[in-house]
Amino acid sequence: MAKIAVLGAGYVGITSAACFAYLDHQIMVSDINESRIAQLDRGECPIIEAGLGELLVEGISRGNLHFTVDNNLAVSSADFVFVCLPTPQGENGVADTSYVQKAIRGVASQLKSGAIVVTKSTVPVGSTKIIEEALNRSDVAVVSNPEFLREGSAVDDFLNPDRVVVGSTDVNAAQKVAGLYSKLNTKIFLTDPASAETIKYAANAFLATKISYINAIAAVCEGVGADVLAVIEGIGSDRRIGRSFLNPGPGWGGSCFPKDTKALVKIAESGGYDFALLRGVIEVNEQQYDRVAHKILNVTRSHSEVLQVCVLGLTFKAGTDDLRDSPSLLVIQKLRNAGAEVRAFDPTVSPPNSNLDGIVLCNSAQSAASGADVIAILTEWPEFMELRPVDFFKIVRTPNVVDARNLLNRENWLGAGLSYRDVGR
Ligand code: UGA
Repeated sequence: MAKIAVLGAGYVGITSAACFAYLDHQIMVSDINESRIAQLDRGECPIIEAGLGELLVEGISRGNLHFTVDNNLAVSSADFVFVCLPTPQGENGVADTSYVQKAIRGVASQLKSGAIVVTKSTVPVGSTKIIEEALNRSDVAVVSNPEFLREGSAVDDFLNPDRVVVGSTDVNAAQKVAGLYSKLNTKIFLTDPASAETIKYAANAFLATKISYINAIAAVCEGVGADVLAVIEGIGSDRRIGRSFLNPGPGWGGSCFPKDTKALVKIAESGGYDFALLRGVIEVNEQQYDRVAHKILNVTRSHSEVLQVCVLGLTFKAGTDDLRDSPSLLVIQKLRNAGAEVRAFDPTVSPPNSNLDGIVLCNSAQSAASGADVIAILTEWPEFMELRPVDFFKIVRTPNVVDARNLLNRENWLGAGLSYRDVGR
């Protein structure tokens, strides 16, 4: 059993802490946000994350999961200090590591000799060295151990990972970090720190590339009369390509892909390489927001009054309440800039919500659709698949559906007399 301090109670920090506690380690999580720490201490999970609430309660009741607002207290007896702090996009496009550096400087003198600092936050390539400098302790090793957790399925991703990557110049420290995962049935890759840091960016950028690629193919399909769903099955069954991350949509978003793709372009630039491919991937994604907004704005209607749009889904994907860099919000911004009025419903976003100025937030899909000229599906919540066209046909002003996630059963909606447009078909 190892003693682990986790700095940062965001979704990566809480998930890592709860899962390490589940793996029988002794954990103390520290965060400056007092109300969040108090909430966690009561066993309440502050984020929507499948299975996390149960693991938190279990860890607390077994006595191996503790919370504090005092970083020094958390690290003073720790064998490992996991850094799970935010690294927002800095002004120059590269991730800003100032929170990480500040926290490390703050705890440097409190770490016991032989402790290991482990970076889980996504940090620019070369950050291990910067953290070593901030620490200024020759008796404390720094190891990079990037996370590959998807929001919504983070617990499952942690406990059933495709791989664990551990990067360090100190082989002994790297092996100790690898040992924390010994109960998991997975491959462990030991690398140098720069490679570990690069793996994280390369993985996210590749996944974003797959999505931009399929969104571009969807545009081709619309132009030539092909069906992107058939194309996806046709190419996805080639094992070299694979079926996953090939769902067309309103563009990719969230707190990671937009930030990490831009950061990798900058990282490449600083290494003397113009990453034109990745710049193209980002551009295709921005075009996708426009393409979807355009589809919604151009539905057929017989009047010239202000376009009323019902948006179903606000979060950046289903299974989370996270609105950060949500494609849905970016599309809505474009609709509002074009003069449309928006009523919206999302299963995890309740009114009032001060982040959503200018959008009428409703308590149900029906309420959002009342008087609408177009219903736009922008997040792939499974419950939207259960909606019955007949309930909507009678309450909308003009019967149009734009399904930007190819989620609904198009025959049912067309059969009920609504015009229905999806993506790439
Ligand atoms: C992503 C990565 O998948 C994780 O491996 C990584 O650890 C995490 O970022 C991170 O860097 O912390 P996440 O941001 O939770 O995870 O979201 P994804 O499930 O990857 O989805 C990202 C965006 O792509 C969403 O807007 C989603 O709707 C979109 N998407 C995804 C598609 O449009 N089509 C797809 O086929 C898949």
